[in-house]
Amino acid sequence: MLKDALLEKRCLMVCGGGGVGKTTVAASLAVAAARVRKRVLVVTIDPAKRLLQAFGFSDALLQEGGAPLALSGEVLARLGLPADAGLSVAILNPKWVLDRIVSQSLGPGQGTKLKETVIYREMGQMIHGLQEYTAYEWVTRMLTDDEYDLIVLDTPPAFHAKEFFNAPAKIRNLMESRVFQIFIPSGSSWIPSLLTFGWVEKLLGERIYRESRMFFETFTALRDRIIARCGKLSEFFSQRDVSVVVVGTPESTPILELEGLIGFLEEKRIPIEAVVMNQVEVPSGFERESWASEVSPGVLEKLDEMKLHQDAKADRAFESIQRVKARHPGREWVEFPMVYSLDGFEILRQNSEKMKN
Ligand SMILES: Nc1ncnc2c1ncn2[C@@H]1O[C@H](COP(=O)(O)OP(=O)(O)O)[C@@H](O)[C@H]1O
Ligand SMILES: [Mg+2]
Repeated sequence: MLKDALLEKRCLMVCGGGGVGKTTVAASLAVAAARVRKRVLVVTIDPAKRLLQAFGFSDALLQEGGAPLALSGEVLARLGLPADAGLSVAILNPKWVLDRIVSQSLGPGQGTKLKETVIYREMGQMIHGLQEYTAYEWVTRMLTDDEYDLIVLDTPPAFHAKEFFNAPAKIRNLMESRVFQIFIPSGSSWIPSLLTFGWVEKLLGERIYRESRMFFETFTALRDRIIARCGKLSEFFSQRDVSVVVVGTPESTPILELEGLIGFLEEKRIPIEAVVMNQVEVPSGFERESWASEVSPGVLEKLDEMKLHQDAKADRAFESIQRVKARHPGREWVEFPMVYSLDGFEILRQNSEKMKN
């Protein structure tokens, strides 16, 4: 049960198609968890920074990137949480995380040199999947440090959710590919590093040559660590206290995407805690009798029309959810309502209420 997971798990990873509400659901689950646990952290790699905005943080606070920010008493109150609740939020900046990995692996001196190379500075763009990789790195470190009881990890919108799980394999392939082997003299390889040839220096220019050499030499240590870590990621999900929450909405295209993702996770044997159906239209609570004496017949007619329209939407959502549920027996489905409110806190409040025992 998702409710139990909020109490017992150490890491919940929120996945799903773009725009279905992953960030909102991650935040809502974190709010719900903060009611029952002391130290909850919700992490996003969403460049749209919606999570922080959802919690009322201004852009000025985002500069540091990665350092968790504790929600203020005022925000906790607006979320319906007690003043002593421990809920923090962090936005992951992949480059920041990588910098820390570099400093830790290579030591400050060599680490700084590596970071100053052009190649390193461009690496964020160079390595597809770096965002995902650094997220794993970061979460693994946070879990080891034991600073938080539960970490809810929101996944980025730009990538298809499947990419997220494939990223470690992709990075590993790149690290082990010939491109790297040509540049990095590996102990067992008889291939000399390309950078030992004088003509390469002329070809690249002195500065780029020096930097490339430096980059690839120092990167060797890092590469081994990254490869080892990528291998460990399958273990990450086999831990009993880590699992995935899949998010979808009742519309047809997102449902197809959702089922594709469920199938993919099942195939990879990644544990799915529950499926959250978000933005579920609910029947209008409009009570005609109590309004009839208050408003003009014209307005009443409009309200009747709106009620019909809303109830029809709710019926369609209900049927669509029944059909998809029937195709996946044995899974837990949790429904979060479509909340019509300009107050972002209202969505989080209502969703997290659904998780109350
Ligand atoms: N249950 C909900 N009710 C109303 N609006 C929602 C709900 N869930 C998400 N939204 C809105 O939908 C938009 C996309 O949500 P978001 O959580 O950012 O999606 P994702 O992270 O999947 O891209 C946001 O504007 C958000 O406020
Ligand atoms: Mg998002």
